[in-house]
Amino acid sequence: MSSGAGQIRTVFPLPGNEAFAAALAEAGGFESGVVETRRFPDGESYVRLLTDVRGKCVDLVCSLSNPDDGFLGLVFAADAARDLGAREVALVAPYLSYMRQDRRFEPGEAVSSKSFARLVSATFDRLVTVDPHLHRYETLSSLYTIPDVTLHAAPVLADWIAANVEAPLLIGPDEESEQWVSAIAARVGAPFTVLRKLRHGDRSVDVEVPDLGAWRGRQPVLADDIASSGHTMIEAARKLALQGFAKPVCAVIHGIFAEDSYERLAALSSRIVSTDAVPHPTNAIALAPLVADALAKPHSSTTNGIRHRRPPEILDEVDRAGFDSFPASDPPPWTRG
Ligand code: R5P
Repeated sequence: MSSGAGQIRTVFPLPGNEAFAAALAEAGGFESGVVETRRFPDGESYVRLLTDVRGKCVDLVCSLSNPDDGFLGLVFAADAARDLGAREVALVAPYLSYMRQDRRFEPGEAVSSKSFARLVSATFDRLVTVDPHLHRYETLSSLYTIPDVTLHAAPVLADWIAANVEAPLLIGPDEESEQWVSAIAARVGAPFTVLRKLRHGDRSVDVEVPDLGAWRGRQPVLADDIASSGHTMIEAARKLALQGFAKPVCAVIHGIFAEDSYERLAALSSRIVSTDAVPHPTNAIALAPLVADALAKPHSSTTNGIRHRRPPEILDEVDRAGFDSFPASDPPPWTRG
């Protein structure tokens, strides 16, 4: 099955993702779908698609920066789209959560990356994401059983740096960041180095900075895939100052900046920028054109050769209620439990 020219793509934003979904629809010339979401008084999630999806490729846009809050609503939206006749239901998650607990670091721990991948793979036909944290897994297909499109933000980050920073020195705060920092530095045509990080806990890291004297006079640019608790960036910025460098520019793909980390990092940086993979005041680099291009390209549902879309389920009379009149009227009240 291809989703190239001639097929209608409809982009629905899950709460908090309206700006990215609108930018995506505009960049790709896709239809914008409307979804109503709210909480029942007891806290359960209510979801209703207000745009007809029959025969269309549906893209649910949901950056998973706060997954525990929105995941069930996302699943309900995907199931509703499928029940209502969507041809394909894709998850567009510019930030993919639960990638870092990719092994049992301590006895008894849940390997949440695996469980999360299983739940997403059971719900969607396809996953589109940007720079997932691949460290111990080499590709998403070692975790996810649905076809994925894994995009890379290094080129757009590099272009932002080339346009905005004079004589940059790219610095990765830890060994894992080398894959991003080296790609950015190559495109910018700037030197790069990688620091050494020791993590003691969720909010406790040490960063060792070697002597960077050879690059004095350059503008340090700390670049990483993600600022989550923000402590990696904060500690690296703090250590750079001790070597007498100018305050660094901090550039991240996924700017989560939990708790007060943004304010703390801001005090140590000359500027903080992120892509719009996660909505945040630091967003300065748009990913929608990159994602729209990938969505518009013909693809095969079996790209990774792993599995075809989930088999259609037989609709019972509750599923069918309100279907024929969709989207003009509500289902009969007896369906409301
Ligand atoms: C780790 O390998 C990543 O590349 C990031 O450096 C890390 O996840 C950032 O985490 P935090 O902001 O919580 O220190």
